[in-house]
Amino acid sequence: MGKVKITETVLRDSHQSLIATRMTTEEILPILSQLDKIGYHSLEAWGGATFDACLRFLDEDPWERLRKIRAEVKNTKLQMLFRGQNILGYRHYSDDVVEYFVQKSIANGIDIIRIFDALNDARNLKTAISATKKEGGHVQAAVSYTTDPKGGVPFYTTEYYVNYAKQLEEMGADSICIKDMAGLLLPYNAYELVKALKENVKVPIQLHTHYTAGVASMTIMKAIEAGVDVVDTAISPMAQGTSQMPTESLVASLAGTEYDTGLDLGELNVITKYFTNLREKYLGAGLMDPKVMKVNVNALINQVPGGMLSNLVSQLKQAGKSDMLDAVLDEIPRVRADSGNPPLVTPSSQIVGTQAVFNVLNGERYKMVTKEFRGLIKGEYGKTPMEIDPEIVKKVIGDEERITSRPADALKPELDELREKCAQYIEQDEDVLSYALFDQVAVKFFENRKKKLYGIDSNADKDLGIHSV
Ligand code: CO
Repeated sequence: MGKVKITETVLRDSHQSLIATRMTTEEILPILSQLDKIGYHSLEAWGGATFDACLRFLDEDPWERLRKIRAEVKNTKLQMLFRGQNILGYRHYSDDVVEYFVQKSIANGIDIIRIFDALNDARNLKTAISATKKEGGHVQAAVSYTTDPKGGVPFYTTEYYVNYAKQLEEMGADSICIKDMAGLLLPYNAYELVKALKENVKVPIQLHTHYTAGVASMTIMKAIEAGVDVVDTAISPMAQGTSQMPTESLVASLAGTEYDTGLDLGELNVITKYFTNLREKYLGAGLMDPKVMKVNVNALINQVPGGMLSNLVSQLKQAGKSDMLDAVLDEIPRVRADSGNPPLVTPSSQIVGTQAVFNVLNGERYKMVTKEFRGLIKGEYGKTPMEIDPEIVKKVIGDEERITSRPADALKPELDELREKCAQYIEQDEDVLSYALFDQVAVKFFENRKKKLYGIDSNADKDLGIHSV
């Protein structure tokens, strides 16, 4: 076993980042036995976007995909990403839904659950952590990484992350992940952060970053020198751009050193070839846009992550206000500061971005406030990292009382009610969870499935009682 371990992201984050999560189960299956041969620490295979895209765009059951992957991957651990109390969705769910989702994820084949919260409010990880432990899974608690606003008082210091990681370790984390979803972590900061975490935390440390700004390879190398245990990489045809650094490049760079991964480049090359063909297919079909493949330093300059930037561009285009982009980019850090400077990751990135667009388009700040932004200020998503100015609170929610307890404490169990609502579609226990997360999207999927399962065709000639074939 080599000293540095690798999590391969090609089945989840890599195609989420490069081709809007459109890799199909059919495309995944033929390469699984080879992926299983490599000796990776784990394969990241499941998460919010893969689940969503299966139901919404691919007409696939995400649970079925997981079971098929598990059937082929007999030796390597399967890993998923989990948004704490948001599960794989966008709102807070009651504890019974969180617990049931964890139970079913592990029962269907997941070994490691990477759990994070957009606000780094540990209370939002509590239920997912205890449920994972109860089901015998590995809890990887993630620290959402971000940087300080320009010119502000240092807040997101190494000490901040170490304290949070220690808190997560006390809550039962089996490992800690630095989750740098926007690719903001720079090499020397990574060195300092990993070193401090290794000194203060006993469990293994994993690094997840993105190649977007072109620094990921250097960041990973410095993290390795500081003692990081596991890093996330993607097989080269599905690497770089907004994805991860290439697996083969890291394996080659570390070979023969004290950090040797022990992985075989010849065996990896079988996977490289397989995904090279798929890459050509994606490029040809226009699924992969060469634009996402080039280095984009926007995130380092204006602190707006790549995915968030493309959302803003399309929101402004729809409003016919593309010329306002610079004004919105200037407004984002102000809205972020007004809302306690949260890390910008789903769902906080959408909430802050959309409010900034409203502020600019209306020509007056907070003249119109989105429901989600009110929720963020009110405490519906948990405690923001920094305190919010009372004047902003007043302006946004008036005299309404803020929530200071764990948001899910206010939620009644909802699993039974959800089961009732989708009873007519249930074919397996897991369906209620698909429904809980993506309701109408799931219903549409269920209806299509019903047609296929029972041969009910929309062209059926009802009068004659026969089905067209
Ligand atoms: Co990521």
